[in-house]
Amino acid sequence: TLPDSLVVVSNRQPYSHEWVAGPVDGPVEDDDVTVTEATGGVTSALDPLMRARGGTWVAWASGEADMAVADDGIVPVPPGEESYRLKRVPLSEEAIDGYYHGYSNQVLWPLCHEDTGRMWGDPAFWEQYCAVNDRFADAVRTVTDADELVWFQDYHLALAPRTVREARPDATLHHFWHIPWPAPSVFEHCPHADRLLDGLLACDVVGFHTAVFASRFRRCVEATLPEATVDEDSGVVHYDGASTHVVANPLGIDVDGVRKRAKAADTAAVRRRVLGETVPDPSIPVVLGVERLDYSKGIPERIAALDHLWERRPDLRGTFTYVQKASRTREGIATYRRYRQDVVSEIQRVNDVYATDDWQPIAYTERKLSTETLDGLYRVADVALVTPHRDGMNLVAHEYPTACVDGDGALVLSELAGAATQLDGALTVNPHDIAGIADALERALELDDDERRDRLERLQESVAALDSRHWVERQFAAGPD
Ligand code: G6P
Repeated sequence: TLPDSLVVVSNRQPYSHEWVAGPVDGPVEDDDVTVTEATGGVTSALDPLMRARGGTWVAWASGEADMAVADDGIVPVPPGEESYRLKRVPLSEEAIDGYYHGYSNQVLWPLCHEDTGRMWGDPAFWEQYCAVNDRFADAVRTVTDADELVWFQDYHLALAPRTVREARPDATLHHFWHIPWPAPSVFEHCPHADRLLDGLLACDVVGFHTAVFASRFRRCVEATLPEATVDEDSGVVHYDGASTHVVANPLGIDVDGVRKRAKAADTAAVRRRVLGETVPDPSIPVVLGVERLDYSKGIPERIAALDHLWERRPDLRGTFTYVQKASRTREGIATYRRYRQDVVSEIQRVNDVYATDDWQPIAYTERKLSTETLDGLYRVADVALVTPHRDGMNLVAHEYPTACVDGDGALVLSELAGAATQLDGALTVNPHDIAGIADALERALELDDDERRDRLERLQESVAALDSRHWVERQFAAGPD
């Protein structure tokens, strides 16, 4: 069912180019630029497919040297093993502000994570979201013929499929929505609900991580577009003379890749390098959290849970360190800057309460880690805490148990992450229940060997069943014959 060649369209690009020492005049030489490969779930699932099949990936030219190394916006990738084309879409500052920092991340992100109090609908946001979606659609038109297969990724690109459909009536269009889809009573907060659905329904297939998100999408269609009909049994929506298969298709990880890197890791060196002076005792258990500094991730509740646990169980003070690996994100938005400050100051507060001369309760790092080091860090960790308020899937919940190649590790997982509906073996918690998170962590630390091993094995098996290769296959199998 895999296509011969494919057009993928996403906001983030799989490879970006930066200047080594500032822009150069005239022809660009190889050593004038560096190439960075993206590390997210989408790239790790789709880059292997593109390498194997060939085709074109259309994405925002976010790197400063991106357009200088491209010819008509197109650059062959991956560097040194050129097997497909990357078509870059350059965007002005104004466009990035309105489309990326604006509509995508101040309207759609809070809406879909059911946090409508954080929505801000500046008029320029919608205007730029429409304009940029048109730019992406134009780019798709320039790289496709009549009946190609085009696969749009995520909430940045809800409208582009409709524009592409008008120009390419015979193309097969897919979309995958990587973040949660909200309940109808939340989606109705969106002033452009009908336009977003109209854009997505230009696709033959729209995929979500879970059956709950897919079913909510169909209910939103029924509530918003009176002319649409929904067949709940088949999951097909009929609208505007066409049909859209709305499917649940959970994304997984490259299981072999994570296992290989975790096995190869020198765990003592990883501990030394990442935790260094903050966790000098090489034998102290590590509890780990890994996330972008996003308000959907529930980091403050987790820190409050640690505080609660150390307060309630003084005997647990000094017996483990919580390591928060955090990445700065979307810092053009004030809410994100404030969230980071809140996280950092709460960690400081808890450390001030409990630290002793030879024990730091919480270690915080914003260091960028290679995937090799991160997989090694997962292997080092005795427990991982993944407690988002809402999450489309959450791949840390897949990566952590997979990297526990010594057969030792426990996962505390939010019941409101997509991963909780797919994975077996985690200790699940309500992400707002601070006492409940503390209890689950206490349990995770004190599990007997048999239960710990049994839970980890179930986690590893359920993660392996969702390997990212199957995700790609399932998406295309759901399409029209
Ligand atoms: C989420 C989204 C992705 C996005 C990622 C990073 O996981 O589903 O589409 O790429 O966050 O966010 P950023 O704003 O840096 O692209």
